[in-house]
Amino acid sequence: MNLWSRTIPAVVLLILATVGILLLIFQKKEMETSPDDMFGIVLDAGSSHTSMYIYKWPADKQNGTGIVTQHSECHVQGGGISSYAGHHGGAGKSLEACMEQAMKDIPKSRHSQTPLCLGATAGMRLLKIVNATESQRVLQEVETKLQSYPFHFKESGILSGQAEGAYGWVTVNYLLENFVKYGFVGRWLNPGRDTIGALDLGGASTQITFETSEKAENESNMMELKLYGQSYRIYTQSFLCFGQDQFLRKLLAHLIKTQGVKPQIDHPCYPLNFSLSIKLGADVFDSPCTKSYRPTQFDPQMDVRVVGTGDYQKCVDNVKKIFSFSNCSYSKCSFEGVFQPSVRGRFMAFSAYYFTQKYIISLTNTSITSPNHIVQAAWIICKMSISEIMIRTNQKEKYAKNICAMSNFIQVLLTQGYHFDNNSFSSIAFEKKAGGASVGWALGYMLNVTNGVPAERLGVMKALTPGGWGGILFLFIMFMLFSVGCLFFIYRTAQSKHDLV
Ligand SMILES: *[C@@H]1O[C@H](CO)[C@@H](O)[C@H](O)[C@H]1NC(C)=O
Ligand SMILES: *[C@@H]1O[C@H](CO)[C@@H](O)[C@H](O)[C@H]1NC(C)=O
Ligand SMILES: *[C@@H]1O[C@H](CO)[C@@H](O)[C@H](O)[C@H]1NC(C)=O
Ligand SMILES: *[C@@H]1O[C@H](CO)[C@@H](O)[C@H](O)[C@H]1NC(C)=O
Repeated sequence: MNLWSRTIPAVVLLILATVGILLLIFQKKEMETSPDDMFGIVLDAGSSHTSMYIYKWPADKQNGTGIVTQHSECHVQGGGISSYAGHHGGAGKSLEACMEQAMKDIPKSRHSQTPLCLGATAGMRLLKIVNATESQRVLQEVETKLQSYPFHFKESGILSGQAEGAYGWVTVNYLLENFVKYGFVGRWLNPGRDTIGALDLGGASTQITFETSEKAENESNMMELKLYGQSYRIYTQSFLCFGQDQFLRKLLAHLIKTQGVKPQIDHPCYPLNFSLSIKLGADVFDSPCTKSYRPTQFDPQMDVRVVGTGDYQKCVDNVKKIFSFSNCSYSKCSFEGVFQPSVRGRFMAFSAYYFTQKYIISLTNTSITSPNHIVQAAWIICKMSISEIMIRTNQKEKYAKNICAMSNFIQVLLTQGYHFDNNSFSSIAFEKKAGGASVGWALGYMLNVTNGVPAERLGVMKALTPGGWGGILFLFIMFMLFSVGCLFFIYRTAQSKHDLV
């Protein structure tokens, strides 16, 4: 009789818990692919390859608050767009597979509102130096291809070295929430943290960017950025021809210049007994970066055999020759006569820095936190055989042969170039990703192209983080178990009473 009235609270709790759990599951689906998400596509057309990044953010924009996260990425097969110079249709076609993926990754209803942009970097800056007409043709071809998709094409162009550095810095600090942070009181706050410097090592150029309060001796290196109502004064410098591939090319050119143009030359940075054949034109001198090393007369078709000697000391001595540490007309310089204030604070080193560091760790079992660590690691690596390097890093010969040279390069670049010392070196973090997104300039570029930082309603976004969601789900499950337990208990007591009767 009163068995029913006694079970009512437990039944109600059970129903509520079930409804709660169903709502949470529905909410989770919504958190993943909310119909209110907006998307943006950036193609990072680097010198060695093109990558596509798709970002997303909540649709409702509010002033200066927002969270953009990376939705997906795609790596274009083959070389960078500049490698299709003189090859009509090649650059446009190379992007097709990734663009098809974007068509699938982004809900159809959003296609027409999705901004699409392409930024080309140092590979195209070099092509522009060699043949401006051809670089324009390649860009036009790529643009025509991108416009054939239903997205909202915004722009394509060659980023300046300055912009590339600044966007990388914005990306790093955006992802680490150094500009704004969601506070418990339901507002976006300035976290009051120092920003982090950005060290980017690409295929054809390298960038260093950090906030500084030192006097600017060369205004062209300084940028004033206004983000979330806050002003940041940053120093940025891009060194064309000091990216990984162009540095290695200059090293070869320097070795040929010093040893003379002959059928066989020694390479102190290649593993002992490793050798390969190169063409003087295509592999060495066909680049504006090696122009100053070019012999007055040479046959671009000539084959030269390059033989490794695995000699750490000679390698590092030759690597240093690629830099010019003299002729500074300011109170202090990094290299090539470029003004640079003292490095300060923490730094994030990404792209080729990250990979070189990763190879060093897998080859020597030691992480690099001081300049001395790299010196010791390079000394070990430069003595290794090509097969040992290939096995331990799981890399093809194409990459494995350069690890000794690259270890010495980043050591010289960071210490003698940028003047990181024992102390400041330990504040460099080598990373590929931060906050689930790839670290590079692409996100910073998109934030700018889409006109400021997209935002969502104050206090709504992030109200339910995945952690919070899990906690509430756990609570509801406990309620459910508790009510089932109560029901079971009530039923059992009722039954035993019944049995007694
Ligand atoms: C957004 O900013 C504009 C001007 O900067 C201001 O007029 C507007 O009221 C702001 N909106 C909100 C919701 O804060
Ligand atoms: C530059 O490229 C154009 C094609 O866009 C070609 O006709 C021209 O010969 C090239 N110039 C040089 C100097 O290679
Ligand atoms: C690194 O560790 C592996 C196994 O853990 C070992 O075989 C190898 O000799 C070590 N290498 C160095 C350079 O210490
Ligand atoms: C972002 O875009 C604006 C124009 O919309 C430009 O003035 C500004 O310099 C850009 N920021 C960076 C870091 O390049």
